[in-house]
Amino acid sequence: MVSYDRIMKLSLERGFYFPSSEIYSDSPAGFWEYGPNGNNIKNKFIELWRRELVRRDDMIEIDGSQIMSKNVFVASGHIDNFSDPVIVCSKCKSIFRADKFILETAGIDVPERVPNNEVDKILNQYNLKCPKCLSSFQQTERFNMMFKVGIGPNNDEAYLRPETCQTIFVDFTRIFKIMRGKLPVPIAQVGKSFRNEVAPRQSLLRLREFYQAEIEVFCNPNQLDAISKFDDIQDTTLTIDEGTKVSKLTAKEALDNQIIPNKLIGYYLSILYEFYEKTGIDMNQTRFRKLSDQEKAFYATIALDFEVKTSLGWLELVACNYRSDYDLSQHSKISREKMEIMDPVTNEKILPHVFELSLGVDRSIYSILEHSFAEDHENKRVVLKLKPYLAPILGAILPLVKKPELEEIAKNIYCNLKKDFDMYYDGSGSIGRRYRRLEEIGVPFAITVDYDTLKDSTVTIRYRDTMEQRRIKIKDLKSFFEINKKP
Ligand code: GLY
Repeated sequence: MVSYDRIMKLSLERGFYFPSSEIYSDSPAGFWEYGPNGNNIKNKFIELWRRELVRRDDMIEIDGSQIMSKNVFVASGHIDNFSDPVIVCSKCKSIFRADKFILETAGIDVPERVPNNEVDKILNQYNLKCPKCLSSFQQTERFNMMFKVGIGPNNDEAYLRPETCQTIFVDFTRIFKIMRGKLPVPIAQVGKSFRNEVAPRQSLLRLREFYQAEIEVFCNPNQLDAISKFDDIQDTTLTIDEGTKVSKLTAKEALDNQIIPNKLIGYYLSILYEFYEKTGIDMNQTRFRKLSDQEKAFYATIALDFEVKTSLGWLELVACNYRSDYDLSQHSKISREKMEIMDPVTNEKILPHVFELSLGVDRSIYSILEHSFAEDHENKRVVLKLKPYLAPILGAILPLVKKPELEEIAKNIYCNLKKDFDMYYDGSGSIGRRYRRLEEIGVPFAITVDYDTLKDSTVTIRYRDTMEQRRIKIKDLKSFFEINKKP
């Protein structure tokens, strides 16, 4: 498996992503920019998510505000509960995130929600001291991870959203009325969220500003097994880690064996799995892991993480939480707005429950890069075997040599294709070096214009993964790319 450092090197050199404000010495950790290649991959990943989840399941998508009022987060529980345990050195005042510190120094895996007194006990028991000055720690404290902002001249207290879904909950009744939907109603949103992490690290893996693609499925809690589309996915094979055992079984078997609690959850886990199958991630290196009560977020009654194995270990990509009516009942209580609705199917007045698929976009991009990376020692090349529909550039147009008659044709081809596809023109350097550069950023097809082109209006298509070359007529290139850009 390729190392994290190798992916980092590639990302910096080839413009996938790099640190924000990097020319300044006060650039804060945990903020990263997507460069041109990374941005294209991210946008295509989001488009695939739209295709395979949002459109497939007739979901509604919204785009809400990133700054929300204080009361939103009083209601959501984030003001009281969204905190990490931190330990402060009694002498040099260095601050550490307690659970990470304990894992790294004593090898003990404590959950994020570990109570403060439990942390103090472990620090004492293992005699853990500040690594900088060897002094002991003060009592464990909680650090709230939301970014507070002041609005207008009065500096009114508000917050950057720590999860995109709060806008969906707050807007739910209006959206439900407008769309005249039937439960279950899935509402999706992709956008930025913000968490003031104590210890941001590993570039895209623990960011303070990051992309989420979230789906909140509003449902009638009495109808969780009445979802007929379960039949469409019942044969999807899922790997589920329950802590005590790991099973690889179909969605139907998981339901029959009560490994998943109902058809609604089974259906959404399966379409999520089928979406990731299309990203190029090695699905044999993935699992759904059931979280223990201590690991679950404070709003979740059932929680499964969709995880992928990387060079850094298992990485959570999607939090799949059954949030019950926690959010709607809290928002209803604090805002005093009624949030119950009539279920048009059963004619019951209910406060819907929510099952969510909360997907981390940046971590998914990192995992795709790792799983696509291949070193071809025989041919001395690095190849990023991205799916063509996720590649930052679909095709490159290359004149074989720097001759005006070849360059003119190559530029014409490029101009005719660039509005419809992500294309790239590269006219300089040896052809071998140009191929290597393209392979490293995952361009699946290279089109070479050579002397035969002048005779018969054909060009060579070179396939990135196999290096196979075929002739194709210039007039057929458009339909070739049309076919090959589709998932
Ligand atoms: N909405 C769930 C999360 O952000 O983890």
